[in-house]
Amino acid sequence: MLDKKVAQLLNEQINKELYSAYLYLDFSVFYEAQGLDGFANWYMIQAQEERDHAMLMLQYLQMCGEKVTLEAVAKPDKVLAQLMDPLKEGLAHEEYVTGLINTIYAAAYDVKDFRTMQFLDWFVKEQLEEEKTADDMIKKMELFGNDSKGLYSLDSEFAARVYTAPSLVL
Ligand code: FEO
Repeated sequence: MLDKKVAQLLNEQINKELYSAYLYLDFSVFYEAQGLDGFANWYMIQAQEERDHAMLMLQYLQMCGEKVTLEAVAKPDKVLAQLMDPLKEGLAHEEYVTGLINTIYAAAYDVKDFRTMQFLDWFVKEQLEEEKTADDMIKKMELFGNDSKGLYSLDSEFAARVYTAPSLVL
């Protein structure tokens, strides 16, 4: 059985990851409406990955014999007006999620819950990738997004992203 606080934080993280999926779906909808199908594809896949993160949390809790409680998922609340907005909101959101993962890790560390720490190691690494990728997208947009040819090229690059299942298997 898990420590009560650790279990509660993991349960809350299911909701946060589902919110992330919903947020990125909103970004995808925004770009699709702008005619940028590649950007829309990129965020559609990102939404799928976030759902995977939620499922991993859920399955881990179930494996530990914990009761899972699903709460309402909040409405995506970011104001999206410029093409750069989702990219910057995405980076800020990933930095926020890194903080959430670190908080759960710290709670597990406090009670010497090595099993949960090992489970979370994958997420710690994943967050590094998530932040790096979000930052790279901003840099590319700053460099190439200001003329139509550059934007077309970026959109084509993002159109090539394909979904891959998470490498973490429980
Ligand atoms: Fe679930 Fe984008 O981290």
